[in-house]
Amino acid sequence: MASFSYLYVPKYLSFFIHAIIIYIFIFSVYGNYNFNQDFDITWGDGRGKIADNGELLTLTLDNSSGSGFQSKKEYLFCKIDMKIKLVPRNSAGTVTAFFLSSEGPTHDEIDYEFLGNLSGEPYTVHTNVYTQGKGDREQQFHLWFDPRDDFHTYSILWNPQTIVFSIDEVPIREFKNLGQHGVQFPNNQPMKLYSSIWDADQWATRGGLIKTDWSQAPFTSSYKNFNASNDGCAVGLGNTSCESWMSQKLDPFGEEKLKWVKKNYMIYNYCTDINRFPQGLPPECNEEQQ
Ligand SMILES: *[C@@H]1O[C@H](CO)[C@@H](O)[C@H](O)[C@H]1NC(C)=O
Ligand SMILES: *[C@@H]1O[C@H](CO)[C@@H](O)[C@H](O)[C@H]1NC(C)=O
Ligand SMILES: *[C@@H]1O[C@H](CO)[C@@H](O)[C@H](O)[C@H]1NC(C)=O
Ligand SMILES: *[C@@H]1O[C@H](CO)[C@@H](O)[C@H](O)[C@H]1NC(C)=O
Repeated sequence: MASFSYLYVPKYLSFFIHAIIIYIFIFSVYGNYNFNQDFDITWGDGRGKIADNGELLTLTLDNSSGSGFQSKKEYLFCKIDMKIKLVPRNSAGTVTAFFLSSEGPTHDEIDYEFLGNLSGEPYTVHTNVYTQGKGDREQQFHLWFDPRDDFHTYSILWNPQTIVFSIDEVPIREFKNLGQHGVQFPNNQPMKLYSSIWDADQWATRGGLIKTDWSQAPFTSSYKNFNASNDGCAVGLGNTSCESWMSQKLDPFGEEKLKWVKKNYMIYNYCTDINRFPQGLPPECNEEQQ
């Protein structure tokens, strides 16, 4: 028995040493994401900051200004993940936006907006899709966790077939390309990724009833681990590197999770807001039978 373990211990050791080397390699390639390489802080006069050697980005809002950043690259289709920790405690009146957008009056946009709330009351995740300058496609959700306690991954998959919003890999919304049914889909205007924090106490929390409590300022949202898989399809990089997710769609498992979110966490859906569309619901609502 003694010689048995003598023979096998070194193999175990070498296995662990290899595992540690591989881990360190993966960590050095992917773990130390650097915000300086992909983003510019664009406004806020010092209220947006990149810290920890580029690994952490924070945006703050106080009684005189919010702040924001944008990507250096433009994407024509992308799969983007960002870890975000939203304004802690009483964040009522604040909005943190995280969105893709092209420019100009007929721009396209894929939006997340996180509407703050009083301590202990739920954040609202507001989503929208604009095509050719026209939005009016809001869906809102509460979450199955408190997004101010920790970092969670907020993702956008945007390819020629579909747009999928996911949180911690749980799809919360899909906007399919229904071009053949006359529904416009964003597919020819490159977009940049933006995020910002601002004061929206005129409307954000219970329709503006609850005002921002400036004694809690500054309000801070934090970001880390940005991942645009294979650099997205950043314009100018060609499209050879983006193919793995270019044809990705929700699989049946994803469809089930989406149903679970709709049933338990959706609090507003434009597709069921009949009073808002007296001329009839937008065509994508009928196609998706929502
Ligand atoms: C803004 O906040 C600062 C720091 O808390 C405070 O000194 C100042 O009076 C505030 N200004 C306004 C207009 O509320
Ligand atoms: C804030 O909390 C209230 C009470 O739970 C909830 O009705 C509301 O949807 C929450 N979100 C916002 C943005 O007001
Ligand atoms: C980035 O995203 C790609 C595709 O979703 C995934 O394969 C890869 O593991 C991600 N990288 C990190 C560091 O999470
Ligand atoms: C990549 O570009 C080529 C030529 O522009 C085009 O034919 C092909 O469909 C593109 N592939 C994808 C996945 O977009």
